[in-house]
Amino acid sequence: MEELIAAAQAVRARAYAPYSRHAVGAALRDDKGRVHLGVNVENAASPQGQCAEASAIGAMVTAGGTCIAEIAIVGPGPHLCTPCGGCRQRLREFAGDDLPIFIGDPDGLQEQFTLGALLPASFGPENVG
Ligand code: THU
Repeated sequence: MEELIAAAQAVRARAYAPYSRHAVGAALRDDKGRVHLGVNVENAASPQGQCAEASAIGAMVTAGGTCIAEIAIVGPGPHLCTPCGGCRQRLREFAGDDLPIFIGDPDGLQEQFTLGALLPASFGPENVG
């Protein structure tokens, strides 16, 4: 957990957030133990921006991963940088209710959740068909 928080905090420096100035880093560990990183990537046409979690998921899938074991998300503080609704659903695609989600700020871990707590009664791959 501390390693993931530290990785998410370190990668925050690479966030592209010139509009919000709200730099976010995400570090996720896949089921093979590999760590994948992501940052938010904003855009002048704001709806085209991408959250850090989405970037990290893209990195995992690009590396051949399909299962998230745990994830840390670090924002600037002081407020909790919990994943947005869209990212909760993105995480659900590659994890179940028990996924640990660690939320940090530059001082370290702030709070810990599970995906099931943040996205109850979710619709996932098993619900299709
Ligand atoms: N953001 C993330 O990257 N992850 C989160 O968990 C919450 C919000 C980004 C989106 C946008 O670039 C900026 O933070 C402000 O909303």
